[in-house]
Amino acid sequence: MMKLEGIEQFDSPGKGRGLRVNRAYGVGELLFSCPAYSYVLSVSERGFICEQCFTRKKGLAKCGKCKKAFYCNAKCQKKDWPVHKLECHTMCAFGEKWCPSETVRLVARIIARLRDQKARSQSEKLLLLKDMEAHTEEMDNEKRERTKADIAGLHQFYSKYLDFPEHQALLTLFSQVHCNGFTLEDEELSHVGLAVFPDIALTNHSCCPNVIVTYRGINAEVRAVQDISPGQEIYISYIDMLYPTEDRIERLRDAYYFSCDCKECTTKSMDVMKMKVRRLSEEISQKDISDMVRYARNAIEEFRRGLWILDSDSCPSELLEMCELIIDKMGSVFDDSNVYMLHMMYQAMGVCLFTENYDGAVRYGEKVLKQYIVLYPAYSLNIASMYLKLGRLSIALDRKPIGISTLKKALAIMEVVHGKDHMYVAELKREISGDE
Ligand SMILES: C[S@@+](CC[C@H](N)C(=O)[O-])C[C@H]1O[C@@H](n2cnc3c(N)ncnc32)[C@H](O)[C@@H]1O
Ligand SMILES: [Zn+2]
Ligand SMILES: [Zn+2]
Ligand SMILES: [Zn+2]
Repeated sequence: MMKLEGIEQFDSPGKGRGLRVNRAYGVGELLFSCPAYSYVLSVSERGFICEQCFTRKKGLAKCGKCKKAFYCNAKCQKKDWPVHKLECHTMCAFGEKWCPSETVRLVARIIARLRDQKARSQSEKLLLLKDMEAHTEEMDNEKRERTKADIAGLHQFYSKYLDFPEHQALLTLFSQVHCNGFTLEDEELSHVGLAVFPDIALTNHSCCPNVIVTYRGINAEVRAVQDISPGQEIYISYIDMLYPTEDRIERLRDAYYFSCDCKECTTKSMDVMKMKVRRLSEEISQKDISDMVRYARNAIEEFRRGLWILDSDSCPSELLEMCELIIDKMGSVFDDSNVYMLHMMYQAMGVCLFTENYDGAVRYGEKVLKQYIVLYPAYSLNIASMYLKLGRLSIALDRKPIGISTLKKALAIMEVVHGKDHMYVAELKREISGDE
């Protein structure tokens, strides 16, 4: 069996398999990397990012057959063909009607690779894809239905071009992807795709993680964000750590079938700050607070669905009004620093960016960032991406000095979490020195 130097698999009490280190690692140090076993680029990023190497650049060249996949050059295209041909054929056959979900597209690629695979891959030095945790037995009816819909999608778009394993094996594969899949994000944390990295899928979760996963093209890299001593288990965070304990626990239980026993989930030390209530002359009742929490959670969920509309046929001004309405309403009970307020302000910033309302975006972004710094750990992708967005906005708005000092703050974090030799770091240095 292949090995990863410095890292070993072990049985983590109460958590299944896990990974631990057998030597010390310091903040910013690379523990290991893993090429994607399979991956897929989001449809919305086509034309902006190379399908094969995931480089974002201008002037990508189209696949002559489907005219939907874009590449840096002939070399990337050739390298991708064994994977792309499946999708290329189905897209040509279905034309405008081609609309499998991203998960379905990823699973189709996995099935094709499993079919052709002869030896253990470079992504499976510690764990084979087929041995990833599945939790098939624990799926509730709602999940079963959703997975059945995915399987139907797979049949609908791929059955002519791909032989599938039987139903039970497909159920297992989809639940493995749900439980072990990674969403690929760019430096501003925009969603750009999905992937599976079997070796990294051995890493358990903590809401106070000691490592972080970043991407270099289609390779995932695991770096320390805390000092780690020999023998210690490594943890990533599966979820956004912004939210209060109850929300995190619910999310982890629903998506990953476990209850977290990390320090933060036990002490809930940040919850009061995260749920901060306005200080008024008259104290707000417990009932008003819990009513507003319920309202906030619903609004967030509804807005999440609304945002999909923004991608397609969109009415952004209405969306911004909706954000502001929700913020106003929540503001009667919640302090500006409350995480539900931050969530909606972050969404409002997104809408402003979409409509090129840059002043609006800066206004919301600054409020959000101020709290992010308090609520997230120091080496956080959320903080780095916010510095990056705000710095870039300031420069675009001709506020150079503030822009550059903001970008420098992003750089300080990214040198640690992405590594000093990362393309994003080089790009950022060019932006800071002003010679783009
Ligand atoms: C991506 S896998 C991680 C590796 C997994 N332990 C295994 O043996 O394959 C995710 C699953 O690991 C388990 N897990 C991860 N973090 C955990 C934690 N903090 N406490 C308990 N179980 C955890 C859950 O079963 C979860 O669905
Ligand atoms: Zn490329
Ligand atoms: Zn094509
Ligand atoms: Zn936790």
